Amino acid sequence: MRFEGKRAVVTGGASGIGRATALRLAQEGAHVIVGDLDAEGGAAIADASGGAIAFLRTDVTHEADIVALLAAADAAGGLDVLFNNAGAGGARAPIGEIAAEDWDATMALLLRSVALGIRHAAPLMAKRGGGAIVNTSSVSALGTGYAPTAYSTAKAGVLHLTRLAAADLAGDGIRVNAVVPGFITTGIFTRHLGIAGEKLAAADAAIAGVAAGAQPIQRAGTPEDIAAAVAFLASDDASFVTGTHIVIDGGLTIGTRASWDRQSPSLLTALEAFR
Ligand code: NAI
Repeated sequence: MRFEGKRAVVTGGASGIGRATALRLAQEGAHVIVGDLDAEGGAAIADASGGAIAFLRTDVTHEADIVALLAAADAAGGLDVLFNNAGAGGARAPIGEIAAEDWDATMALLLRSVALGIRHAAPLMAKRGGGAIVNTSSVSALGTGYAPTAYSTAKAGVLHLTRLAAADLAGDGIRVNAVVPGFITTGIFTRHLGIAGEKLAAADAAIAGVAAGAQPIQRAGTPEDIAAAVAFLASDDASFVTGTHIVIDGGLTIGTRASWDRQSPSLLTALEAFR
């Protein structure tokens, strides 16, 4: 019950990582307000929570919506925790083809929203002596080949913003950290490609299969894996942790496949033939 008596705001909490985190925080005693575009998913999580989770329809690309969401927590007794997590795949074009407005829309959704979340949470947290902010980045912030260019650039921005905000806000007792998820089976992949209906379950299974084979810990990542790390960073267990991130990726980013898969060709196996 690390969040007994605390109030948390979770953006993108109607689905996937945000949903699992809202449930985890509520399970540990928090009163949670979920802000999301998806009114149906938001109503569903509020209904399932037995009163611990409220829903406010929010578009994180609209500053006024962010302000209203945070004000709701403030009015209910004060804002203790903010999880800036809402997101989607963004523009898919490579840098040589991307349209300026698609670039801007991706940055607005994935980077500007996080900046504005921090911007408007900070004074509310400062007036109560502090708080904890966690932002969702991605392994695509650490290397290439994981996600489209605009998305990956925004997620790298989230990581550096996390450090800068931690430095700016430490004096107000506010800690700012990030989570860096690897492949996590959520709706983000299928929604991005417009896959729905009968094909959804098969597509989800295919994604889980690819994810399970892509890293040394050979299972698909789950939203609950990320929720556990967010709960740690948001809790007093992490009271000495700020301006950093936790990578939760099953080892996806530790090195080349040859480092953990003995069947995978490496320089050494290639040279064996010449001995
Ligand atoms: P998801 O699609 O299950 O959940 C995303 C939620 O954000 C949805 O409920 C959606 O309605 C909401 N959302 C989208 N645009 C919004 C807006 N303008 N305003 C408010 N809400 C909005 O996807 P998932 O995977 O749970 O994504 C959560 C975060 O995790 C995202 O920031 C994503 O980029 C990030 N992430 C996901 C990874 C994965 O493998 N699933 C890997 C790395 C990062």
